[in-house]
Amino acid sequence: MADGSRRPGLVDQHGRIKHKLRLSLTDRCNFRCRYCMPEQPQWIPKQQFLKRAELLALVTEFVHLGIRNIRLTGGEPLLRPDLAGIVADLNTLRPLGLERISMTTNGSRLAEALPGLRRAGLDDLNISLDSVDAQRFRNMTGAELAPVMAGIDAAVALGVPFKLNTVLVRGHNEQDILPLTDWALRGGMPLRFIEYMPLDAPGRWQADAVVSEQELLDTLRTRYQVERLPRSEDPATLYTLDGDYRVGVISTISNPFCSSCDRLRLTVRGELYTCLFARQGTDLAGPMRSGQPMSDVVQQIARAVWNKEAGYAAHRTPVERPITMHTLGG
Ligand code: GTP
Ligand code: 5AD
Ligand code: SF4
Repeated sequence: MADGSRRPGLVDQHGRIKHKLRLSLTDRCNFRCRYCMPEQPQWIPKQQFLKRAELLALVTEFVHLGIRNIRLTGGEPLLRPDLAGIVADLNTLRPLGLERISMTTNGSRLAEALPGLRRAGLDDLNISLDSVDAQRFRNMTGAELAPVMAGIDAAVALGVPFKLNTVLVRGHNEQDILPLTDWALRGGMPLRFIEYMPLDAPGRWQADAVVSEQELLDTLRTRYQVERLPRSEDPATLYTLDGDYRVGVISTISNPFCSSCDRLRLTVRGELYTCLFARQGTDLAGPMRSGQPMSDVVQQIARAVWNKEAGYAAHRTPVERPITMHTLGG
């Protein structure tokens, strides 16, 4: 078994150690979630995408540096035709200390892909689900609910652990809080509500569109006995409902978890973003492609991580930059 404790570790100037790397595998998506995609997305040219071998070379260095969990994101990662191959590549890194390969998906193409991904080494899933009402789901995402439900059924049938993610946007799906919770509780499926973050099309996010953790809890308390559990490293604060069933709340806006942030992000063109709200990334693909030794690339990674800023908690304003959520993978 690999001994992660002997790896050097990536630490930032605020003393936060990085164990999680999120890989955005494409900026394309077959959904148009109103809180994520601009109306006219500027797509990254596909020839700039990291090739499988480049991705593996970079991720290998991150694992040497102490990354234990990888999360595949997008856009929608299931739109990558070589996804199972990428998972199989990453699976070879376990002897170096990689512990988990996870994926965040909209679920719509999951049913057909999941058996192959599981065989390739995928451990678990987060599936976005903003409503259990087909019309409201369509309004939130521009897509159909039924294929997502089929994806969730496939995860249940194959025994793949998963969590459901619901972004709440006032005026669009706050009336889903109770029906969604009832449905997830009946099926014993872990559910997390997410406060709407200012990372979508510039100028679209409005503070009053955020349904806060407090407001969510007030709604849940109309039906359930709600108890707060102690905070862990999870981005979500967990609550029990009527005993055992757990609901999470990711409250970046009203209660940011920046002080314990243990994650990094790599875009599909090989830029390292050390924070979801970082104004810019550090290009790793360019140096690698120009033939610089990997030891130089590793130094650039360590420097960028060290310089990671305090995060959203420190400024609490929308960030202006040319890259939005669908390019950064949430
Ligand atoms: P784990 O790797 O299991 O901790 O996954 P996760 O819950 O972070 O992943 P997921 O992709 O499901 O993200 C759920 C929500 O949390 C999304 O809205 C993300 O944008 C948000 N999120 C994930 N990482 C961060 C982060 O570092 N900072 C903030 N503020 N939000 C994050
Ligand atoms: N605010 C909060 N969460 C968001 N996500 C995408 N955009 C936003 C936003 N503006 C979520 C998706 C998915 C995860 C990757 O990020 O719903 O669950
Ligand atoms: Fe981490 Fe930045 Fe999110 Fe704070 S805002 S939790 S520092 S990614």
